[in-house]
Amino acid sequence: MNRVISIDGPAASGKSSVAKALAKILGWSFVNSGEFYRATTWAMLDAGVDVDNEVAVAEAAGSLELSAEMVDGISQVTIEGKPVASELMSSPEVNGAVSKVARVPAVRELVVERLRALADAYEVTMEGRDIGSVVFPETPYKFYVDASEEVRQQRRAAQGLTDQIAQRDRADSQRKSAPLTIPQGAVIIDSSEMTIDEVVTEIGDNLENGD
Ligand code: C5P
Repeated sequence: MNRVISIDGPAASGKSSVAKALAKILGWSFVNSGEFYRATTWAMLDAGVDVDNEVAVAEAAGSLELSAEMVDGISQVTIEGKPVASELMSSPEVNGAVSKVARVPAVRELVVERLRALADAYEVTMEGRDIGSVVFPETPYKFYVDASEEVRQQRRAAQGLTDQIAQRDRADSQRKSAPLTIPQGAVIIDSSEMTIDEVVTEIGDNLENGD
């Protein structure tokens, strides 16, 4: 495993933009782990899998050809070797179903394996829900980026996206398998009244002080 900076947090907390900007500054690669769950969900919906049926989801995960490649320092998820377009991954249908798919242990095992393989090949900033707690508990560089629900809802609306974030957060926090949690040892940053640049600077300061 190369060096990993984990950035966990709830939906629309700004963690993606922060992790991406940080990777650019450091010359590392950026991995959006949510896209692995989103691409998986898209493929299952496309194949007509009943996402309310955990057994059917686990079975479908068993034969899913999920992979990723690095394109200009950013992970691009592929299904059967083909990149999945970001519009498909952020559709209202996927937003509504992704938490159901992501709660299934067989799906999580598949995704976690892919995420660890990326860290074996690259130095990465990786954002998600369980990156510091489950995927890379041994990394010394852990952050948890939060923001008030109101601010997060405003951020999604500004992106023009339909997303029931409160519902998704509840499902992600209450599930049995790798729930959203503040990882042990993580630095917590409330980004409600901060710009992306300010959050990146705060993380950078923490990294320098921690060395
Ligand atoms: O980060 P994003 O909002 O795109 O994630 C979409 C969904 O994928 C989350 O709501 C969650 O259900 C799932 N997810 C997860 N673990 C991660 C990243 C995302 O369960 N590390």
